[in-house]
Amino acid sequence: MYNFTVKSIIHDYSVQFINNTPEILNGELKEGDFIIIDNNIIKLYWDSVGNILEKFNYIGIDANEDQKSYQGIMPVINHLIENGFRKNHRLIAIGGGITQDVTAFISSIMYRGVDWMFFPTTLLAQGDSCIGSKTSINFGKFKNQLGGFYPPNKIFIDLQFLNTLEDAQIKSGLGEMCHYYIVAGEEDFFRYKNDYSKAIENKEVLAGLIARSLEIKKSYIEIDEFDQKERQVFNYGHSFGHAIESLTNYRVPHGIAVSYGMDMANFVSVKLGYIPEKTRFEIRELLEKIWKNFSIDDIEIEKFKSALSKDKKNVGKELRLILNKGYGKIFKDAMQMDDRFTNWMKEYFANEL
Ligand SMILES: NC(=O)c1ccc[n+]([C@@H]2O[C@H](COP(=O)([O-])OP(=O)(O)OC[C@H]3O[C@@H](n4cnc5c(N)ncnc54)[C@H](O)[C@@H]3O)[C@@H](O)[C@H]2O)c1
Ligand SMILES: [Zn+2]
Repeated sequence: MYNFTVKSIIHDYSVQFINNTPEILNGELKEGDFIIIDNNIIKLYWDSVGNILEKFNYIGIDANEDQKSYQGIMPVINHLIENGFRKNHRLIAIGGGITQDVTAFISSIMYRGVDWMFFPTTLLAQGDSCIGSKTSINFGKFKNQLGGFYPPNKIFIDLQFLNTLEDAQIKSGLGEMCHYYIVAGEEDFFRYKNDYSKAIENKEVLAGLIARSLEIKKSYIEIDEFDQKERQVFNYGHSFGHAIESLTNYRVPHGIAVSYGMDMANFVSVKLGYIPEKTRFEIRELLEKIWKNFSIDDIEIEKFKSALSKDKKNVGKELRLILNKGYGKIFKDAMQMDDRFTNWMKEYFANEL
């Protein structure tokens, strides 16, 4: 099994691959700690974790974007204060990215910071979001507006949770993980492309892909934890992806939107002569498997451009896109939202979907 430590300016933290969540939970929990757990996990895994939940304190939350908001976390904080949660106690998150963000944000602000642990239960959280320290919550309808950097102290990855995950969530995780492999280089990408189908059936292959994805991410966050420079390449596919997510009202899951976004970034990169068509098609062959069943051909170009222009990375009216000069050569580029760019987007939506 894979075990490693991530170096952080805030505090180093460990990542362990496990297959015995109840045992590990029992060993880690101390009196006064609180578990913050996705209600779906409570339902699906009551037989294995129910007796632990009954023995300790827990708060069940619904994994939705309203819960992950300034307003949504108030009852959780209220419950913690009213029930004797203190600075020396810890929070234990069990769930996907929503449960992670809720718990991390509360941990970062309560009593100027308390320790927390994370048991990620989605592929996206296991293969990506669990490391990297980012913690964001929504403010009303505005996504990820409040937050900071506050990693857990320990992360435990148990792939058994993935057995109950819906196919769309598995694909979303695989799409998100894919961008790390393209950033890492040609050898990594072709390994991912080759292992992709096997990983869906075979947990050992999947564990290997998750571990490598985290290893690639670790190598960047350890030099640029606060996303000032090197780490920004991981926004590859994300400017387009966020526009797709918001225009489809989150019908298209994050990692699937990012998969479309990577193909769009590659399309622009071909237009600019950065990569040959061949490279785009090598990548697209895999991306098409990920986005199958999720069409986005009803998006209107003008709305798409408007959503892109709101990206927080833009400088003034200029877009900042992460483009592709080849495997392992992903980089940030400035782009005018002019007629040329508009025509490329029209061509993409007309012919490429
Ligand atoms: N902090 C970060 O670095 C970071 C990075 C990426 C995404 N995010 C955030 O993460 C959120 C998305 O998280 P996510 O995609 O991991 O999922 P999620 O937490 O939104 O959960 C998705 C769905 O899967 C269910 N679920 C969770 N685990 C399950 C399991 N094992 N079996 C069956 N169902 C399960 C949940 O109840 C929910 O219905 C977004 O809000 C996004 O902004 C944060
Ligand atoms: Zn992402």
